[in-house]
This record gives sequence, structure tokens and C-alpha cells, in this order.
Amino acid sequence: MSLLMPLARLDRAENAVHDGLLPLTLPEDGLDWALADLPRSPDENAAVRDHMQDDPLHLLYPDRVVDRARFFVERFRGKVLYAVKANPSPAVLRLAWLGGVRAFDVASIREVRLVRAVLPRAVLYFMHPVKSRPAIREAYGLGVRAFAFDGPDELAKIMEETGGARDLSLFLRMSRDSGAAAYDLSGKFGAAPAQVPALLGAARPFAARLGLCFHLGSQCMDPLSYARALSEVAALIDRAGVPVDALDVGGGFPVTYPGMTPPPLEAYLDAISRTAEAVGLRDMPLLCEPGRALVAQAGSVLARVEMRRGRALYLNDGTYGSLFDAGQPAWPFPVTLKPSDGRAVLCDEEPFELFGPTCDSLDHMKGPFYLPSCVREGDLIRFAHLGAYGQAMQTRFNGFYSDTLVAVGP
Ligand SMILES: Cc1ncc(COP(=O)(O)O)c(C=O)c1O
Repeated sequence: MSLLMPLARLDRAENAVHDGLLPLTLPEDGLDWALADLPRSPDENAAVRDHMQDDPLHLLYPDRVVDRARFFVERFRGKVLYAVKANPSPAVLRLAWLGGVRAFDVASIREVRLVRAVLPRAVLYFMHPVKSRPAIREAYGLGVRAFAFDGPDELAKIMEETGGARDLSLFLRMSRDSGAAAYDLSGKFGAAPAQVPALLGAARPFAARLGLCFHLGSQCMDPLSYARALSEVAALIDRAGVPVDALDVGGGFPVTYPGMTPPPLEAYLDAISRTAEAVGLRDMPLLCEPGRALVAQAGSVLARVEMRRGRALYLNDGTYGSLFDAGQPAWPFPVTLKPSDGRAVLCDEEPFELFGPTCDSLDHMKGPFYLPSCVREGDLIRFAHLGAYGQAMQTRFNGFYSDTLVAVGP
């Protein structure tokens, strides 16, 4: 059965899928369906041989998306929203669906349109706290019923642009800095705790469902940050005296990068369940919005060495491409050498710094990246764990980019 239904059939009943009111239907030929618009190669060598030209090559390992999605769906005690921004490839969206994810956190109207086109039955949560009026209007018309806000202006905008709708799930985004995340996301959005009671009170009369949400920052290294946030939110809800129907703990679940080894994901999900019980939120419907942790390990990029100058390598991918995080936050992604001629690598590793292809001096990844000392022009370097915020981040600056994504595997 095809999951691609005409948009006209979208109505509120579609949103009931995730709430267990309608059966989940997986297509029998799941992988073929998910990967319909991607080239496929049985292994990496075949992908390079058949698809790598002058630009970097993006690789997707489909089973890893399905596995991670299943893990979250089975282990998180609530609803799992995939944060589309981490990797909006249609194949990834469908793979997450195959893994049981039925709800998606979208940040822009383009993401709304994309998910609607790829997965018409998906439930969409428009969780960006500052949206344009046309975006709200169009999203509502496309069946989106869940919206985030972090102040009275955005709340008013949502109500006006949906025509005073009575069927909305309104999520108040609170500001919350875990202090334990590689990327702090608290500086820009989120109501201060002191404003929360008044904002909950203001939204309650308009909300069919009123929720609170927060984001502890991306790559959050401490499961107890979620526990602490839940305790504080429970106290805040008590103080506010306004009934709250749902709590969204955001994304932020980490993956392992060199030098950053977080506790296992189970520790995060357990901390959330245990704390919810302990602080009186046992019956509170929970949601989470993993991006990175769901897809990071499902992708890598192969970049070519265009020039070697001592311990500096000039590549055809960089910080304006899919290696943004290797630049300013200077994450040392796991790298391995793939010699161009298949020669045996019989040399020791040395630290290298890397430069991307654009003319900008910011296109620099200081690393250090440990690579065999005999690396040379023409060799490929594989950057792993780039399924999240990799290809999704690339620009077209200076004409350097790659749209080639190949699914690798049987
Ligand atoms: C609202 C929201 N939800 C979810 C995510 C995904 O976060 P992560 O990739 O850290 O899981 C982000 C990331 O910026 C976000 O802003």
C-alpha cells in the first residue's frame, strides 16, 4: 500500500494515527519505498566508484535510522517527534517513519511542506517560537495543529492567523540552559520561568491542549540535566495553578564524538521516566524531539584531499559545506583515510589541520584530526557521524556543494 495520499485527504483523522486511533501501516517493501529517490550501492567502494565525481559524496546507512527511531519509540515513555532540521532528506523522513516515528518537529513552512509531501499522514509540530504570519496560516491549512510560542505576541499571531481556532495544541517554550550541552540553545528563545505562569494563563483559554516545552541545548552530556529540568517544571506547573496537558523535553540527546563520550541514551530516557514519576508527572503526556541522536550515526561524508601542505590538508568540503561543526565549535569528527589507489596504509598517524574549498579563512577546521602521515592528494577522508547537521547545513557559497547522497547497504 502506498503511504502517499493526496493532500485533500488530510484531515484531523490523520493526526489520530499517532495517538493509536488508527493502525500503523508499514509498506511491505519498506526500504524500497523509503529509498525510492536515492541511488543505492551495496558498499562504500561501489558508491565511490559509481557516484563520486569532483564533489564530496554523502553516504546514508538506512538501517541505522530505522534502528535509532525504533529505539526512541520503544524506550521513550511518550511521543517521539523527529526534529527534521537535523536531516531533512526525504529518505531519512521515510526511514524514521519505518522505525515507528509518526510525528515531526518542523521549524519552517518549507519543512512543513516537505513532510506533508513525503509523509502526508505525519503529525506535525511547528515548534519554532517565532514564525511568520503566512507560515502559520499555511501550516494550519496543511493540517498542523501544534504550535510553539514563547511570548504574548507570538500567541496572538497564532490565534489571529488560525482564525481563532479551537483545536490547537499550544506549547509554551521555556528558556532552559542545561550548562551541559555542546550547543546552548537558550540564548534566543524561551520564556523566563518567572513569565511562565502568566503565559500559561494567557494561552489556556485558547488551547485545546496546553503544553510546556524546553530544549536543554544540543549534544547534552548529562542525563541529570533532564531530571533537574523536569523537577523544576513540575514545581513551576504547581505554582502556576494552570492545568498543563503535555510536556515536551525537546532534543539534545547526544552521540559519541572523539573526546565527547556521553552516557548511553538509556540513561537519559531512564532519568526522564524516573524523574517524571518522582515529581508527580507520572500521568503527564511527554514528548521528545531528537534530531542528532536519531540520525547522526546514519551518515558520513567522503571528502577529497586536493592539496597537502605539511600538516595541512585542503579538502573539497569544509565549514560552508557539510563540516560546519568541525569549524567554529571545532568538533573533531571521527576521520578515516581511504587511499585513492587502494594502497595499504603502513604509516603512523599524525595530527592534521584541515581547510575547506572556499576562499574564506573561516573555512578552517583546526582539529587536530589524526590521519596516517602518508595521506596525499587524491585520497579520500571519511568523516563519520555526519548524518545530523551535515549535508543539512551546507551552503552553495563559492559554488562548492554536493547534492549527491547514496544509500549504502544491501
Ligand atoms: C526546537 C528544537 N527541537 C529539537 C531540536 C533537535 O535537537 P538535537 O539535534 O540536539 O536533538 C532542535 C535543535 O536545534 C530544536 O531547536
